[in-house]
Amino acid sequence: MDDVRERYLSAIASAENESALEEIRLKAIGKKGEISLKMRELGKMTHDERKKTGPELNALKDEINRALSARKAALEDEALNERLRTEWFDVTMPARHRRQGTIHPVSQVTEEVTAIFADMGFSVAEGPQIESDWHNFDALNIPGHHPARAEMDTFYIHRDCADNRPPDVLRTHTSPVQIRSMQSHGAPVRLIAPGRVYRADYDQTHTPMFHQVEGLAIDADISMANLKWCLEEFVKAFFEVDGVELRFRASHFPFTEPSAEVDIRCSWKGGTLKVGEGDDWLEILGSGMVHPKVLQAGSIDPEKWQGFAFGMGIDRIAMLKYGIPDLRSFFDSDLRWLRHYGFASLDVPTLHGGISR
Ligand code: PHE
Repeated sequence: MDDVRERYLSAIASAENESALEEIRLKAIGKKGEISLKMRELGKMTHDERKKTGPELNALKDEINRALSARKAALEDEALNERLRTEWFDVTMPARHRRQGTIHPVSQVTEEVTAIFADMGFSVAEGPQIESDWHNFDALNIPGHHPARAEMDTFYIHRDCADNRPPDVLRTHTSPVQIRSMQSHGAPVRLIAPGRVYRADYDQTHTPMFHQVEGLAIDADISMANLKWCLEEFVKAFFEVDGVELRFRASHFPFTEPSAEVDIRCSWKGGTLKVGEGDDWLEILGSGMVHPKVLQAGSIDPEKWQGFAFGMGIDRIAMLKYGIPDLRSFFDSDLRWLRHYGFASLDVPTLHGGISR
């Protein structure tokens, strides 16, 4: 019996894999295995012999079973250790490149403009893009017969035949936000209102939807001088030039009196635009002192308050600052264009608009 025991235990200890173990198991304690056959012979033994041999055989069978499962567990451990040794990856390797989205120049410039004016104490206001014709025109001193209504190539919203109210419009400028803000905040007030505006127009510098930023500052003694200072500060910060020169040209808007269009000194040497030098002038915005009738429409007493307003094309100044030649391309959703002119999401605009692309 000791012989048998030694033989199987050493065979188990040196088995190299699971199938070798299974072979040993069958040979020893399978149906026709050596120990099973010996157990069958118990019947032919005398009572005393059986009493001795029976428990021995059972104990041997148990021992072999235990040795088999111990060896099996050891083999599994070895296999796992081998995998841990050979299968690994380098977590310090650079990650696979994935394309990221970019910030659209309009969003970027809106952020820059907002940051610069916020530093001068302007808060941000918004208004609806579908606007009543009263807010878009009448309240801004543009009565029904005024040529400005036709000039603006307005999109009108459909009304039922039976509905006699004047149709709503897609706002043609951000100036109606002046009225809404005056009505809800009163005076004094200092705000900018960036957003989408709409006019039926389409060429290299016009798209039916574009972006403006409105500025409005009302207080007891605000003058054109304050307007001039604010705009100069803005242009310096936005275009990142110190010696910038602005030209205020007398103009006409129904909602400001006096009115001025503002040009910026620039040069087009070699086909590229340089702001702040040269002999050319480029118009960037309309402005003026808020008309008393407009203050009235906003429920502000023109005897007590006065202020300035301006309206600037966001897409326009984005084209200028980042050298984008065609306005229509802004809204084509062409991925190649967006990757070229777009900004990385972590390029947070600084107060000075200083962006590293
Ligand atoms: N609303 C004018 C436009 O769209 C711009 C403007 C705004 C002019 C405010 C004067 C004052 O052209």
